Amino acid sequence: MKEINFNKVRVEIDLLGNFISLETMNHRLIASSEWALDSKNDNMYISDFKVVERYRGKGYGSFLARIIFGLARLYKVDTVSLIDGSSLEGFWQRLGFKWDKVRESWVLWI
Ligand SMILES: CC(C)(COP(=O)(O)OP(=O)(O)OC[C@H]1O[C@@H](n2cnc3c(N)ncnc32)[C@H](O)[C@@H]1OP(=O)(O)O)[C@@H](O)C(=O)NCCC(=O)NCCS
Repeated sequence: MKEINFNKVRVEIDLLGNFISLETMNHRLIASSEWALDSKNDNMYISDFKVVERYRGKGYGSFLARIIFGLARLYKVDTVSLIDGSSLEGFWQRLGFKWDKVRESWVLWI
């Protein structure tokens, strides 16, 4: 089991605005992301995924990503893919994403 390096975090999910954020208990932004479902509802795109600089390297990014994968399962999509994650490949590969030649993007099968 991997250790989690934080004890308390607020998770806010706006299901209408497709926006998710992690905050400290006194409402400081830690990390956020947006998502979109494709027209056939079989893929979820992740976009604008970022962890505020001072909170990086503590596990928040992978924590947020896994909450988004949980949402993807609730939406019953087959895959999650990245719109603008190319510069963060290593991070997404660790979470199981593979390069899809056909779609020309990083994809995770849920
Ligand atoms: C990349 C980013 C999301 C990672 O978030 P984080 O909270 O620092 O990541 P975590 O602490 O959860 O790290 C998870 C794992 O990914 C690795 N990792 C983190 N950033 C990485 C990167 N840029 N490349 C490769 N691996 C990375 C960590 O070493 C860690 O590995 P481990 O599980 O073996 O220990 C964060 O650094 C970030 O937001 N960067 C800038 C994003 C940006 O500019 N976005 C613009 C719009 S896309």
